[in-house]
Amino acid sequence: MALYSYLNPQCFMLLLCLISVFSNGTSDSPPLTLDYYKSTCPTVFEIVRKEIECAVLSDPRNAALIVRLHFHDCFVQGCDGSVLLDDTIDLKGEKTAAGNVNSLTGFTLIDRIKNKLESECPGIVSCADILTIAARDAVLLVGGPDWDVPLGRKDSRTASYALSDLNLPSASEGLLSILSKFIYQGLSVTDTVALLGAHTIGMARCVNFRARIYGDFETTSGTYLSNLKSICPAIGGDNNIAAMDNVTPNLFDNSFYWTLLRGEGLLNSDQEMYSSVFGVETRMLVKKYAEDPIAFFQQFSDSMVKMGNITNTDSFATGEVRRNCRFVNT
Ligand code: HEM
Repeated sequence: MALYSYLNPQCFMLLLCLISVFSNGTSDSPPLTLDYYKSTCPTVFEIVRKEIECAVLSDPRNAALIVRLHFHDCFVQGCDGSVLLDDTIDLKGEKTAAGNVNSLTGFTLIDRIKNKLESECPGIVSCADILTIAARDAVLLVGGPDWDVPLGRKDSRTASYALSDLNLPSASEGLLSILSKFIYQGLSVTDTVALLGAHTIGMARCVNFRARIYGDFETTSGTYLSNLKSICPAIGGDNNIAAMDNVTPNLFDNSFYWTLLRGEGLLNSDQEMYSSVFGVETRMLVKKYAEDPIAFFQQFSDSMVKMGNITNTDSFATGEVRRNCRFVNT
């Protein structure tokens, strides 16, 4: 049984405070600015937007892929494009780590944007910045909020398979474990609940929700549950997919929080925000964002900027602007 199962809520909060003391979050503001490419690549926003627009129009799922890619980049060594690196003889990338393998995609879309930018302004725009702008555009294009994106990240010359395994949360995790991973990155409980609202778009694979639908999944709709079970049988079909927001799967809105109020969160980690005995604060936030879409949009925007500011201090010193997002420059 997990350690936090033995803790009372006071101990739980104390533990979170302790984790924040050892947090990875940088207290110094990163040297990012809104007009970073103003003179060196003034068309950067236009180019990224056009490519993301094409991709999302052809399949709205592309929006979800890019938002998740940005999250998985930022949680490992900071937002430094490390997740985009392919394995080579000299470098073990993050793509085959447990939280990414057979699951994380969207790399070819980032390649396409990078190619366009390299022909327009060669060697200027980092892959980490492309991913950050693309995530904002993706959210906006499926109905979500807009926000200004601070820029000037450098691409790392390293990746970390080990940190991917350590830092990326998984669907089966309990509340303490999830919150500790966000707090370690310098994000708050409020940021965590707001960022999880990204699950209002996109799909999850059966392997990530089987235990939940054959366990304590609560729903008043027998049809919904039997539908999920037909997508995700007790044995097999690991890669079959279902929407995390079954009401408006392609729209960035607050209906994800309503799924949690109904007990229908597809992932255990999502439902924990509302149903965990330790989730006094998270439950309140879930209710707030379910009732107030404007508050959700505002907080989501702020939290995305905060997540995008998780910096790899090393990459500022030793990083580069990759010519190809999949490989460090030779
Ligand atoms: C508690 C933290 C989180 C956990 C445990 C988690 C877990 C997952 C899992 C298991 C999936 C399905 C992957 C698959 O089945 O292949 C998923 C999908 C997704 N996640 Fe999260 N996630 C978390 C937080 C976030 C955050 C902070 C964001 C972005 C801000 C995000 C964005 C997404 C998106 C957009 C998808 C859909 C991707 C697609 O359609 O392919 N997630 N997440």
